[in-house]
Amino acid sequence: MAEFIVKFVSFGKTVSVPAGTDLVTAAIRCGIVLSAACGGEGVCGKCKVIVNKGKVKTEASRFISAAESKKGMVLACQTLVEGNLEVTVPKGSLEPHEGVSHASEDFTKGIILARESLFRPSPLARKICVDVHHPTADDNTGDLDRICDALKPRADSLHISTRLSNVKHLSEVLRESDYKITATLAYKDGSLEILAFEPGDTSGANYGFAFDIGTTTVVGQLINLNTREILGTRISFNRQAAYGSDVITRIIYASEASGLEELNTAIIENMNEIIMDLAVKNSVSLGDINAIVCAGNMTMMHLLLKIDPSNIRKAPYVPTTSVFPAMHPPEIRIETNSKGIISFLPGVSTYIGGDIVSGILACGLSEEEGLSLLIDIGTNGEIVLGNREWMIGAAASAGPAFEGSGLSCGMKAVNGAIQKVSIGADFNVAYSTIGGDKPRGICGSGYIDLLCHMLKCGVIAKDGKINANLRSERIRKIDNVREFVIAYKKEAAAGRDIVINEDDIENLKRSKGAIYSAMIALLNKVGKGVADVKKVYLAGGFGNYLNIENSVFIGLLPDIDRGIYEFIGNSSLAGARMSLLSHEAFDKAYDIYKKITYLDLSSEPNYMDEYIAALFFPHTDIGRFPSVRS
Ligand code: FES
Repeated sequence: MAEFIVKFVSFGKTVSVPAGTDLVTAAIRCGIVLSAACGGEGVCGKCKVIVNKGKVKTEASRFISAAESKKGMVLACQTLVEGNLEVTVPKGSLEPHEGVSHASEDFTKGIILARESLFRPSPLARKICVDVHHPTADDNTGDLDRICDALKPRADSLHISTRLSNVKHLSEVLRESDYKITATLAYKDGSLEILAFEPGDTSGANYGFAFDIGTTTVVGQLINLNTREILGTRISFNRQAAYGSDVITRIIYASEASGLEELNTAIIENMNEIIMDLAVKNSVSLGDINAIVCAGNMTMMHLLLKIDPSNIRKAPYVPTTSVFPAMHPPEIRIETNSKGIISFLPGVSTYIGGDIVSGILACGLSEEEGLSLLIDIGTNGEIVLGNREWMIGAAASAGPAFEGSGLSCGMKAVNGAIQKVSIGADFNVAYSTIGGDKPRGICGSGYIDLLCHMLKCGVIAKDGKINANLRSERIRKIDNVREFVIAYKKEAAAGRDIVINEDDIENLKRSKGAIYSAMIALLNKVGKGVADVKKVYLAGGFGNYLNIENSVFIGLLPDIDRGIYEFIGNSSLAGARMSLLSHEAFDKAYDIYKKITYLDLSSEPNYMDEYIAALFFPHTDIGRFPSVRS
């Protein structure tokens, strides 16, 4: 197939792509992430670019005015490369992935902080400075032995090993530093390994990263391993999305000629960019970042480590491995201390990955006597039910709607996202955004509020259809799709009205139906009901806010005592951070992974009936939601 050069002029970047590649993909392949909230369906209008020169094949769109079209403006997702191109990207079309937060509380809920303090501080990488005894005629043991003797009273293990490359120049380093030396030790496979020796006392500079590698987003957190302080958090759009929005399309792409290489490079670049950004902002040297812990779903882990994921989508759906060996950063091209360590949380099965094990570690479900649920509302919607004796987990095919993906005005929970909404008299809408910025779109918690209030004031019926008989200028029909306006263009930073339409509502209804029915299927499997559940942990990228009452009202969550619900935020990231800061927590994650049984919902006889019954607000059987009925 012919290849063409696409030049993104404002960035000075070029990329060679096959004819027929869309411009969102071409942009991502050279590191430019366009806003693509609808996943390339052409219905959000966020991915506008200007084709200055060259031949393309494009679709007309209601989001492009005649004047814009004259200037060469197109929707990147609806435009295919047919020749060498020069393209300009307007600022407003870039993905708002600069979700930088220096406030630890953005992702750290009270319960998680309480759990973190339960584990003894013992970071995966430690720096210990020791004054080593000078050798004498009476004490002529080797340099390394004397260093290990000095380290042992301050280390956790009697078994300390190191590599030959660290020993070769050890005697020189020791003598030049007058026998004062800093050893960097890493916890690996149950014992301690000396990663490096440095002359003098460098123990004050010891940093690490916790990563949540999600299908839609990648979140990294820089942590001072000595003080346990979170120095910064950054959320980034997963660049692999250019090759497919879900894991299945990425697995298919990985089987193409250079597919696995490209997907691997995309995620490694994501991580290196996050590391570099937070390191620079905090004046931390990359060489002082000594440990990284990653949590992610099974497909993301395979792609990160460049392991063929093809069997994940073929019956009987087995991963190549669910436990990943610790390694040094250069093995996967991560640009931190080359002698440092990267560890990974283990997954259970193809559909219950290390991100869920990490979440269980973070909330403590595996230590509780009573029956508890963890519901992680991410790209898939994973649910684990159990207690300290046993756990059973399932994955609902919920899709990423509550992450704001695939919706006309959806966005991640970053600055400018509408996170709270209410609808008052005369259908006036009140909302608040993350960071107090002008609204740019709506995130998951905003959609939950919105659905609830639209139901309450009759804007939508229980089947999700918008009531066309209501008299409000906010209700209108564009291109045959009915929609409700949340914020008009003049009050928004989106460059257009922010709306929710019937396609969005249908998408959200399917997501909430999948999550609710998966939960009921798990309870049915063990002969329990919602009344038996003593605690429900809710995880997901909702930012700081999730309204439980409204979540029950739309039928996403069961109608039970609200006091047992606990919103824990990004629990995958929290578990990775706990494991980074304490090897006891890291070991606990391995205990958790061994205890979970996976339930395949597709082979559960009543699951489909449950799902179909849940495709109503709140549910076909209103008797299950007595508080909503009343
Ligand atoms: S219109 Fe292009 S991604 Fe939504």
